[in-house]
Amino acid sequence: MEEQKQAKQRILSGIQPTGVFTLGNYMGAIVNWEQMQEDYDCAYFIADLHSLTVRQEPAELRKHTIEAFALLLACGIDPEKSLVFVQSHVHTHAEMGWVLCCSALMGELGRMTQFKDKSAKHADNINAGLFTYPVLMAGDILLYQADYVPVGQDQRQHLEFTRDLAERFNHFYGNVFKIPDGYYPKAGAKVMSLQDPTSKMSKSDPNPNSFISILDDRPVILNKFKRAVTDSEAEIVYREGKDGINNLITIYSVMTGKSIPEVEKEFEGQGYGTFKMAVGESVADRLQPIRDEFNRLVGEKKYLEELMAVGADRAYRISRRTLEKAKKKVGLLLP
Ligand code: TRP
Repeated sequence: MEEQKQAKQRILSGIQPTGVFTLGNYMGAIVNWEQMQEDYDCAYFIADLHSLTVRQEPAELRKHTIEAFALLLACGIDPEKSLVFVQSHVHTHAEMGWVLCCSALMGELGRMTQFKDKSAKHADNINAGLFTYPVLMAGDILLYQADYVPVGQDQRQHLEFTRDLAERFNHFYGNVFKIPDGYYPKAGAKVMSLQDPTSKMSKSDPNPNSFISILDDRPVILNKFKRAVTDSEAEIVYREGKDGINNLITIYSVMTGKSIPEVEKEFEGQGYGTFKMAVGESVADRLQPIRDEFNRLVGEKKYLEELMAVGADRAYRISRRTLEKAKKKVGLLLP
């Protein structure tokens, strides 16, 4: 008897090309993206259109876009298994964004906390794109009829907005969009600053010792872990109030695949110095092949461009179906 092949559910997520990813981006997002490739039909893209909402140096943005693409591949996102592309290469995204803008409400967009935060931070450039950012993101998701969208907590509100917008559109015009669900990584995957373990690890932190870039080399990584802020006790246990140690235990646990109790047991009675070095080594071991593969790939620009073109073409063929359906429903005459 022929086996019934169930279509896999679709996962979609994007990442902005704003410089080399940190260990935080890697552990919080990309490790999950890589694992999900086995069980889902995955689409991952570089959200370069979203980056335009904050002023960019054009040459830098171009460089960061190709580097971000190479990094995804170096981290194990496999274009044979997943759809990988650059957002601006697929014009359906901008077009869907416009159609959806006409169903999005000023009031709901004005309530987005990221808009409020970014307007405060870039008071000299509160552009309309910053305001409609969540609509573009909704289009990214809805075009592919995604079932699940893995995002960090900071994007949760945008995903809720996407669901509301899709429901509203479907209600007014008829069923076009699948209503996507969020897919939130386990709490343990949140990585904190090595210098101030109460705040999230961020590549925009002015102190480079506070974050690990996934392209840092071994001596740099070890040095940063050596300087990591801990506490004045001498106990390697995961406990409230021990933010620095908790962060190091989490990192070691994800890097080695050991559970938190296993890590506590392994380092029982040992000093912080030894532990920090072990964490540093585990990170350096894990990142080494990624750095090697990235360095190889950035030297193969032609190959990367070919992969981008293949990805864009596939993405276009999938997304145009939804776009055409939506255009038809709102009354646009298809050519
Ligand atoms: N806004 C997301 C971020 O900055 C990136 C993004 C753009 C995205 N479009 C998306 C994420 C669609 C998930 C789905 O992190």
